[in-house]
Amino acid sequence: MKNRKRPPWLHAGGPSLFIPGASVLEKSMPAVIIDGKALAQRLRDRAAERTKKLAERGIKPCLAVILVGEDPASLSYVGSKERALAETGISGLDIRLPADTPEDTLLRRIAALNEDPLVHGILVQLPLPGHIHEEKIIMAIAPAKDVDGFHPVSLGNLMAGRKGFVPCTPLGVLHILKEYAIPTDGARAVILGRSNIVGKPLANLLVRKDSNATVTICHTGTRDPASVCREADILIAAAGQPGLVSADMVKEGAAVIDVGINRVPDPEAKKGYRIRGDVDFESVREKAAFLTPVPGGVGLMTVALLLHNVLDAAEGV
Ligand code: GUN
Repeated sequence: MKNRKRPPWLHAGGPSLFIPGASVLEKSMPAVIIDGKALAQRLRDRAAERTKKLAERGIKPCLAVILVGEDPASLSYVGSKERALAETGISGLDIRLPADTPEDTLLRRIAALNEDPLVHGILVQLPLPGHIHEEKIIMAIAPAKDVDGFHPVSLGNLMAGRKGFVPCTPLGVLHILKEYAIPTDGARAVILGRSNIVGKPLANLLVRKDSNATVTICHTGTRDPASVCREADILIAAAGQPGLVSADMVKEGAAVIDVGINRVPDPEAKKGYRIRGDVDFESVREKAAFLTPVPGGVGLMTVALLLHNVLDAAEGV
């Protein structure tokens, strides 16, 4: 093995102290695997404390969760969100609608929830069945209850550096970088994927002065994305393609954040599939300084930070 040097602030296994100026990540051993479970537990504990404080003021935070149809992945996500709400002491108003629900019916349900003072947040699980216009539904949610941060008003506020809801997955990526003291100031960040839910809002968070990264988004029109990725100090994979990022696309010592949650067929698995990220975990762990696992990484952050967005809504901040 080459003689590679681990920076002094890089302690194995957990959050390390921030050393100002440590902007170049070097490494001498396999990547530190980000412990999403521990980070999420801390976020959830803090959410439970905030919920208790609200209870003392007579406020019971409530999130309406709407699921249209029975897409298996959506059922599983909604289940995780509702369990997290219950464990935190936040009310979950569970609204399940059949797959053939007319768009108008869904719009009317959202309008009623917008007016309901006991409901602080509204989440419509995506994707929606094909006959429902997703953008129209997102636009119908009152920005003050848009805890997913998908409404154009929320996205516009983020872009303009104004207060507002920020989508939970990008918030989760930033939380990981912060908790593991991975420097963003001056870092080159490359994001694979330009979705409105992850890629674009994450780019906005990373270019803000408090992150101060230089950001590139790679997409299907990018020429030679592998060479762009190799320049990244922080590489974020959010393309929805299992195993897309291989070791040859990663700079030695980079922090690699895997946002992908893909179901891949696996006859040996009990359910007939397994969850795989966008990163080829085994090869990349030998080259990166930090790597998030799937499952057990960013996905847990998304759910935990949703709780905090709901609490922000209930606190009226
Ligand atoms: N579908 C996949 N991720 C999400 C999410 O974060 N929120 C909603 N509402 N739908 C999703």
